Amino acid sequence: MSWETVQLDWDGAVATLTVDRPDALNALNVPTLEAMGEALTEAADEGARALVLTGAGDDAFIAGADIAYMQDLETPKAQEWGELGHDVADALEAFPAPTIAAVNGYAFGGGCEMAMACDLRVASESALIGNTEIDLGIIPGWGGTQRLPELVGDETARRMIFLGERLDAESAAEAGLFGEVVADEDLEDTVTELAEQIAAKPAVAMRAAKQAINQRHEGPQAAGLTYEQRAFASLFGTPDQREGMTAFVENRDPEFE
Ligand code: COA
Repeated sequence: MSWETVQLDWDGAVATLTVDRPDALNALNVPTLEAMGEALTEAADEGARALVLTGAGDDAFIAGADIAYMQDLETPKAQEWGELGHDVADALEAFPAPTIAAVNGYAFGGGCEMAMACDLRVASESALIGNTEIDLGIIPGWGGTQRLPELVGDETARRMIFLGERLDAESAAEAGLFGEVVADEDLEDTVTELAEQIAAKPAVAMRAAKQAINQRHEGPQAAGLTYEQRAFASLFGTPDQREGMTAFVENRDPEFE
C-alpha cells in the first residue's frame, strides 16, 4: 500500500517507517496515525525482522500530535483521538520484531510517546525530546504517563511531565531515554547497522525475547494506560486546553487560568 504522509521502505528484512509531513515537522494527524497503523500491519505481515521509525527532513522526528487538529476537540472526539494514538503506540510495542526509533530531531509530546513505544532509541546529537503537553493545558495521552517513568524513573518523569521539559540528546541519554547518541550525520548508518545486526539473529527467539520482556507491562501498565486515556480526554474543552492550543496556533505565549 502507499500513503500520503507515511513511507514504508525495505532493505532486506529491515523495514523503515518514515513519518513524512515535514511542513508540519511530522506532527501526527488522523490520516497519518491511520497510515502508521496500516504500515505496521503490512511490515509485520511481510515478515520484517527489525523496524526503524523515523521522521522525514532534517529538523524533526515527530514534533507531536497535531495541535491545530486538537485545538477545538471536545471530550468524545478527544477520547477517539487518544484511542487512535494508543492503538499505534501499542502496535509498535507489540510489533513482532524489535523496533528502533531513529530520533533525528524534535520528539515532543506524541513524538516522544511514539519513540518510547519502540524497543530501542538512537538519537542524533541535535535531537530534543520531552512530554511537553502541560504547556498546552493537557497531559500526555498516548502512553507517556506510563512509559516515561518506566524508562527514566519516577522522580525524573514527574519533573519532565510537570515542567514540560525539553531535554537535549545528551541529557535524555543520561536520564535513560536514549540508548545511544551519535553525530547527526552518523544516525542513519548507526541505526542501519543496529537493525541489520538484530535482523540477522534468530527471528523466533527474538520474538520470544521481546514478548517475554513485554510481559512486565501486562498488569499495571494496561490499567494505567486506560486511566491516562480517560484523563487525557476529559481535559479537552477546559479553558487551559483551549488557551494552550490556541496560543500555539496563534504563535504567542499562553495565559493560563
Ligand atoms: N502540531 C501541528 N503543527 C505543528 C506542530 C504540532 N505539534 N509542531 C510544529 N508544527 C508546525 C507549525 O505550526 C509550523 O507550521 P506553519 O509553518 O504552517 O506555521 C511548522 O510546523 C513549523 O513549526 P515552527 O513552530 O514554525 O518551527 P520552529 O522551528 O520555530 O519550532 C518547535 C519548532 C518543534 C519547537 C515548535 O514547532 C513546537 O514547539 N511545536 C509544538 C511541540 C509540542 O508541543 N508538541 C506536543 C504536542 S502533543
